[in-house]
Amino acid sequence: MSTKRSIFATHALPPEVLELLSARCEVHEYRESGIIRPERLAAACRELNIEGILLIGGRITAEIIGEAKDLRAISTASVGYDHIDVAACTARRIAVTTATGSLEETTADLAFALLLAIARRIPEADSFLREGRWSHWDWELLWGANVHHKVLGLVGFGGIGRAMARRGLGFSMRILYHARRRVPKAIEGELRAQIIDLETLLRESDFVSLHVPYTLDTSHLIQARELSWMKPSAFLINTARGRVVDEQALVEALKTGKIAGAALDVYEQEPKVHPDLLKLENVVLTPHIGSGTRETRMEMVRVAAQNLLASMDGQRPPNLINHEIFGS
Ligand code: DGY
Repeated sequence: MSTKRSIFATHALPPEVLELLSARCEVHEYRESGIIRPERLAAACRELNIEGILLIGGRITAEIIGEAKDLRAISTASVGYDHIDVAACTARRIAVTTATGSLEETTADLAFALLLAIARRIPEADSFLREGRWSHWDWELLWGANVHHKVLGLVGFGGIGRAMARRGLGFSMRILYHARRRVPKAIEGELRAQIIDLETLLRESDFVSLHVPYTLDTSHLIQARELSWMKPSAFLINTARGRVVDEQALVEALKTGKIAGAALDVYEQEPKVHPDLLKLENVVLTPHIGSGTRETRMEMVRVAAQNLLASMDGQRPPNLINHEIFGS
């Protein structure tokens, strides 16, 4: 019988990561298409005496934790952890870690790409051309909005928010941010970023980009009232979590011209998208691909694997969420 610890990956692993983990652990991979169902993951944990989970898609529920008697660590290949019942893990002293540090620049790339796409109507222009509707150079064709020298309001100012600020600076934008904690003055100076309350940020920004995690505090942070504070010429960009925005209120704001447009990568009930969003022209929609580049996805899984190995060795792992289990 193998003395190696059993771990379970909820997606097939890249060869180099499989090799790294297999040197020290008995690795089981979920190789079927689609997301693993919680009952299936619970059964695997029970039957294979799983001690560590490398989460690349899928949810960790209290029921799974209840069945996974040998589980000691969960390492998610994401920065978000709202798909994990952290309280249930903490109660069982199961370490939960994220892949923080691996995807911030890439997610900001997508957020800024969405900002440009909605401001300059790129998907609309692409369809217009492909559909053979372009007959002549037209003075009034597909006018958009300037991005350079505008005001970029960042709600949340962690790694992704700051990466977004750097991109905004490259476009000579004025940077406002709203966050629970003020960042050190040196960072504010470097990014020429000014902390401000949420209402003023929403009233003054031409582009509002969301970069907060989903928590009870940020649930529906942006609803009808907040949208009414935005300028009719302003755009909302969301690459954070869908449930941070009241999607129905957003649809109303877009339909009635309360705001100019929205560019979204995340939705309240993924993979469902509000049907009215699909019909509106003043929106750009992508299917939760913020970190979706080859290089970054590899880095995310590498970081998650390293975190899991540290947990398996009984060390305090990097990017730990539930510090309480180590007594601080
Ligand atoms: C994250 O890291 O939380 C992303 O949403 C997954 O790409």
